This record gives sequence, C-alpha cells and structure tokens, in this order.
Amino acid sequence: MNVYVDGGHRPLGQMLTNTRLKRTTQIDVIKTGLGAYHTTGSCWLNSIVSEFIVSTNLRAALDPFAGKGDMLNLVGSELSMQKSGYDIDEGAGWGVNDSLVSIPRSSGSICITNPPFLAKYSARRKSIWPMVGGYYERYGRNDLYEIALDRCLDSFGHVVAILPETFLHSAYSKDRCERIVVLEENPFNDTTFPVCVTCWSPATGQDPDIYVGEDKVAQYSDIVRLRRSVGRSGRVVFNHPKGNIGLRAVDGTKEGDRVGFFPGNVFDYPRSRIKTSSRLMTYIMVGELNNEKAIQEFCDASNEILEKYRDETSDTILSGFKGNNRLGKRRRRLDYGLARKVVTEALEAMGSIPAS
Ligand SMILES: C[S@@+](CC[C@H](N)C(=O)[O-])C[C@H]1O[C@@H](n2cnc3c(N)ncnc32)[C@H](O)[C@@H]1O
Repeated sequence: MNVYVDGGHRPLGQMLTNTRLKRTTQIDVIKTGLGAYHTTGSCWLNSIVSEFIVSTNLRAALDPFAGKGDMLNLVGSELSMQKSGYDIDEGAGWGVNDSLVSIPRSSGSICITNPPFLAKYSARRKSIWPMVGGYYERYGRNDLYEIALDRCLDSFGHVVAILPETFLHSAYSKDRCERIVVLEENPFNDTTFPVCVTCWSPATGQDPDIYVGEDKVAQYSDIVRLRRSVGRSGRVVFNHPKGNIGLRAVDGTKEGDRVGFFPGNVFDYPRSRIKTSSRLMTYIMVGELNNEKAIQEFCDASNEILEKYRDETSDTILSGFKGNNRLGKRRRRLDYGLARKVVTEALEAMGSIPAS
C-alpha cells in the first residue's frame, strides 16, 4: 500500500533529490524512520567513557532503544554490567516500549544508548512524516535524538548517549553534561555519520570537558566563547555570485585540501552554481577590498585566524562533515556564522586596506 504524503504527491519514503526536476529516490523507510543504525563497533567505549560509567558505581545498564543490544553486550563483556532494554520493534526481542514518549524508571541503572537520529526537515524531505511527524509536533523539537535525550534525562540520573556530533554546537542544554567525546573512528558499519559520546549526571550547572578520542582538547565554555558571533553587516556578503573572495567551507578528502579563503579570480568553482542556500563552496563580496594585493592579504589573514582556532580546539570549533579524509581524520565544515567572525577579525587585523 502506498501512503501519500507531501500534499498527496509523494509516496512514503520517496526522498526528494531534485526539487526543480521533481526527482525522487526510494529510501529504506523502516531503517530511516526507526533510526536503526546499530553500534557494532567498540570504539565508543574508550577509557574516558568507561571511566565515567565506572565512576557512577551503577552495576546495571539499560538501553531504551536497544536494537540488537550491541552497546549492552559491550558493557556486559567489558565492565561486567547487567543488561536490560526496550525497543519499539517487537522483533528486537526486548520489552516493547515507545521510548520517545516515556521510559519506565529503573533505579540502580545507568542509561546507555544510541537513540534514533532524524532531523525534522529530513523526515519531510524523505517523506516519512506519517511515521514520525507526531513526535516533532508533540514535543516541539527539531530532531528525534533531542526527544530521545529528553526522555532519557527525565528517567535516569546517569546517561551515556551517542549523538550526532552537531550536538556540540546545538542549542540543546548541556547543564547536566559532564563529558563530550568526539569520535573520529566510526562505530557503525552502515553509515559514516559523525558522532560523539555524551556523558550525563544528575548535577546541574556543568561545563562539559570536550575530548577528541581520549585527548582532552577544551572546555565547552571555551568553544562557546570562541564561537561568539559577530553582528551582520553590509561589509561582508556571503553567497554573492560576483564576490571577490572564494570560500571552500569544507575539508576535502586529501590531507592538504582544507577549509580556506582564496582570491575569487583563482577560486575554481563555477559562479553560476552559487545559490542563497550554498553552504560548502561559495563566493563572498568584501566591497572594501578593491585590489589584488588587499585581497591576497585578506585571504592570508583569514586563513591564519581560522587555523589558530582549529589548532586551539583540535578542530572541534568546526562542525563534523560526513566521512574522514584519507588519513582517517574527521573532515570539518565552517558554518557562515563562524566564517563571518573570522573575516571580520581579518579586516580588523588589517587595519587600513593596502593600496595596489
Ligand atoms: C540507532 S538504533 C540503536 C540500537 C542500539 N542502541 C545500538 O546502539 O546498536 C535505534 C533503535 O531504536 C529503536 N527505536 C526507534 N524508535 C523507537 C521508539 N520510539 N521507542 C523505542 N525504540 C525505538 C529502533 O528500532 C532501533 O533498534
């Protein structure tokens, strides 16, 4: 049976891949709607996460989105914990429960989970709104993982949750969050979605430690301070097809292909492809840079400031981008809020604009 969505135009799971040509692709409805990407790898349980779990003195682990029980099995074998779980899929073999609505409390247990992730706009684009739309409407959240995390924090004092790495820069409250561990290794075998492991406890007013793998790289408040945005101004216009500066806002797969600013006349990207929604490659118009020398100096200053930020935070100031580069390092994306801050600081550092 076809369930038609999107004003009756698209059947369930027909993802819109080209709006202009109305091109669609059929996706796996159950896998996407349930977020059924199982945590088959063990890299998520590194020494930082293990130490947190052990410090709680809790001997039982409960996964409210248990799937095949991969996370539970790992803490069972590595930390000798008792295991229990729920899943909405009765075929999974756990107690059946809709854990996006409520999770039975279980005193003496730590919640250890990798909940479903699905952004609201993706649910619409992938035409699976009839399966999951009610959750966003009921709880006013923009991603299923946020709803899942709300329920986990409601029912448990201590929580370990694998979340999208974008959580780090999201507005979701980190008040009870103790640690955020960015994983560069991939714990899944069917997706390269960048993730982090978050560790939560009952105490409020926390400022989480940020790790990349097992290395502590920053405090959450440091990253917030560095990212503090600057106001918009007509000085700098992003996504301007005639812009004099090129911006590659995402790392490439080759080691040297990093996010960077380039003189527009040498930036090898078709200007005809710039749209208001361009996010990875674009042109920026900085009207006051009116000669080649000034443009080059501006690019050098912007790249230096950006590299300093990357270095200070071991890259966590930038968003994770799908897949790693050929050296296994997480690719990163520069959002335009931070890009605006970098270029504004570059203009300030230059003082007066050099004449040609
Ligand atoms: C990303 S998988 C994770 C499975 C397991 N935690 C792991 O890490 O391997 C998410 C699981 O959540 C289940 N699920 C999705 N929506 C759910 C809901 N509303 N209530 C309970 N389980 C749900 C799916 O069936 C799937 O098994």
